[in-house]
Amino acid sequence: MLLIGPFLPFVAPPSSMSPSFEHTRPPCETDCYPLTLGTVKRKPIRLSVPLIVVACEEPVMSVKVAVVYYSSTGAVHQLAQAVAEGAEKAGAEVRLRRVPELAPDAAIDANPAWRAHVDATAGVEVAALDDLEWADAYALGSPTRFGNVAAQLKQFVDTTGGLWQRGVMADKPATAFTSAHNLHGGNESTLLALYNTFHHWGSVIVSPGFTDPAVYAAGGNPYGTAHPAANGAPGEEVLAAARYQGTRLATIAKRLKGLAVD
Ligand SMILES: Cc1cc2nc3c(=O)[nH]c(=O)nc-3n(C[C@H](O)[C@H](O)[C@H](O)COP(=O)(O)O)c2cc1C
Repeated sequence: MLLIGPFLPFVAPPSSMSPSFEHTRPPCETDCYPLTLGTVKRKPIRLSVPLIVVACEEPVMSVKVAVVYYSSTGAVHQLAQAVAEGAEKAGAEVRLRRVPELAPDAAIDANPAWRAHVDATAGVEVAALDDLEWADAYALGSPTRFGNVAAQLKQFVDTTGGLWQRGVMADKPATAFTSAHNLHGGNESTLLALYNTFHHWGSVIVSPGFTDPAVYAAGGNPYGTAHPAANGAPGEEVLAAARYQGTRLATIAKRLKGLAVD
């Protein structure tokens, strides 16, 4: 929105007018910032005096959530989609991103489910550091690897040093989800390992806790949605818990930004 002053407050310039101006944006407590403008001579405004234009940013109405995950055989991918759906349901703009596969083709080809998943998700956009810069909130997902985070996701996380130095992830809510083959095969330790990173980023950890019946129905994991893949693909109860986790993340991100929550 453009406001022109001091002579014509609240009047927008004609669209044909293309003033040259210098844009400097000092830190500002409001969302308005001054622009210095040249002279305006076009109709219908006949003025030849310097004007001050104040550009006001559109009020922020929603939050942006980055769902970044790795998956070999699809379980974590399905959780990631459900987390994204939940965040969208809460009004968030969502980027669903997979991290790059690092394993050689020989390893992937040795497991038909792995090969099938790699091929099926080739169209999913690959995560970039810009996604973390863009987002107001993060959901990270990884399968368990010997009770820990998969190297593929860890590799991506380990490229965030520059962002960390600039505090990009600081003060933003973050959550995590996972899948191990066994119920007690390392789900919690994988989630807690991801939360180690969030502590270093200075993020605000938003675990589900026992804040919704969906958490109990999915097995009662307060650290984050976790799917024991020995049970097959994630069922509706686990997916509902993942959706709830995404909704909760987006809702808390909104609260942290001072936005209205339904
Ligand atoms: C190298 C490797 C290590 C694994 N370590 C564990 C483990 O410690 N505990 C477990 O229950 N499952 C383990 N798994 C199984 C995966 O975590 C499990 O299949 C997971 O659901 C895969 O998720 P995805 O379908 O998204 O790839 C391991 C798998 C691989 C390939």
